[in-house]
Amino acid sequence: MQTTNTTDFPDESGSEARRPGDPCIMVIFGASGDLTKRKLIPALYNLAKENLLPSNFALVGFARNEFSTEEFREILNEDIKLYATSDVDPELWKWFEERIYYMSGDFADPAAYQKLKAFLAELDTKHGTGGNYFNYLATSPNFFATIVQQLGAGGLTTEENNWRRVIIEKPFGRDFESAKKLNKDIQQVLNEKQIYRIDHYLGKETVQNILVFRFANGIFEPIWNRRYIDHVQITVAETVGVEDRGGYYEVAGTLRDMVPNHIFQLICLTAMEPPVSFDADVVRDEQAKILKSIQPMTPEEVLTRTVRGQYGESANGAVKKMAGYRSEPQVSPTSRTETFVAMKLLIDNWRWADVPFYLRTGKRLPKRVTEIAIQFKRAPFVLFRNTAVEKMTPNRLVMHLQPDEGISLSFGAKIPGPIVQIGNVNMDFHYHDYFGTTASTGYERLLHDCMVGDATLFQRSDMVEASWNIVSPIQDVWEALPPRKFPNYSAGSWGPKEADELLEHDKRHWSTTE
Ligand code: BG6
Repeated sequence: MQTTNTTDFPDESGSEARRPGDPCIMVIFGASGDLTKRKLIPALYNLAKENLLPSNFALVGFARNEFSTEEFREILNEDIKLYATSDVDPELWKWFEERIYYMSGDFADPAAYQKLKAFLAELDTKHGTGGNYFNYLATSPNFFATIVQQLGAGGLTTEENNWRRVIIEKPFGRDFESAKKLNKDIQQVLNEKQIYRIDHYLGKETVQNILVFRFANGIFEPIWNRRYIDHVQITVAETVGVEDRGGYYEVAGTLRDMVPNHIFQLICLTAMEPPVSFDADVVRDEQAKILKSIQPMTPEEVLTRTVRGQYGESANGAVKKMAGYRSEPQVSPTSRTETFVAMKLLIDNWRWADVPFYLRTGKRLPKRVTEIAIQFKRAPFVLFRNTAVEKMTPNRLVMHLQPDEGISLSFGAKIPGPIVQIGNVNMDFHYHDYFGTTASTGYERLLHDCMVGDATLFQRSDMVEASWNIVSPIQDVWEALPPRKFPNYSAGSWGPKEADELLEHDKRHWSTTE
């Protein structure tokens, strides 16, 4: 199948979306970590393949490990074979590899930044990169403020007929106060326009498509509100456990790891008002308004509207035997860390008043699925009196974000036969039917946006703080009242029964568990 027509969207200027990034040097702090080999290098390579990487480009890996540039190139040479999302063209890779450099240094050592500055100036001359630098902080969050301060002190953030930007990975703070402090620390050095707080969910094609679906089509927006929508469900379910990330997970937990970032991005895109343009701040103003309309819960509401869980070992007779969270590497045998979260949020504005948004995310659930289900209200009048009302399920629009990317709309249809009987059918759109599959890491668009100075898909300071403002009261109650019954769900199940009860209490149920 083919699309009949294509239009650039949401980038108002198609050319901006398609032009290669500005000449620049990318510096990756923490370059010896997983993110570089698994995502960043394959993404940059994909950009080069699409002619979106500037020909005047260089990359400097900066980390504490002592490697030479040659050794670093050799390592990446092997890694790309494992992590490239499509075949590697030896000639193109060679071109790219020749632009990769490495410098070892301590993140807190001012002398290392002087050395870096001199090295970047040398590379500017060699590669014609014009003094444009973007620094990617792929380090532990403890170093974010230090690195930014050192970059500033080393004169690496001052812009003079060139640009200097910093991409900061998640987690951005661990609660409201620490996020606010981190914002304050980095804003002493950088202005907000130089800061790119990244969330890889916004790099996913299907996540970006939420905006296109809502605002490039005339038929959905009139019914996208409290008059027609009964409730919204957002599920981000993972089959994996914590794997080798026990150390990180013990101090993070699912609430911090997934909610104020990935899941709130999905809420913002689903609930925001149409922006008047696709200017970065105009879009982000609308998203920030949504976050600010979610009222932080009172302690009583935390008890009735949130559910936390931790997986135990898989149930007897499960096809695959899986260990419980407390037996995972680097996890305490008495850990109280949650690996599952469900909650009900309300957005207090005119469009969404009284429409619950139910969220659910967890590790070791039965299937990997990320989806947003919009459940419409029932038809106002039950014409088919002989049909059991419970059989007439209301219309539901589901945006499937991964792994099966697409959109489906369910509605009632007459089952053929002499008696009027109603069955539920689906109208399905699958991405791959129309567009095939383009293998990507999800980081291509975000890296390219940073190289052309488009911050639309990055978090602004007020958005980050508004997100923590919602999450912190939940953390406070959870910390004050440790869970009594952990583990409370078996690996491979849909989470604790309280998550089902959360919806049953409102006479609803989760859509993916049907
Ligand atoms: C990361 C979390 O940010 O997102 C992980 O730290 C989680 O715990 C991952 O597994 C999910 O991302 P994706 O792209 O696999 O849905």
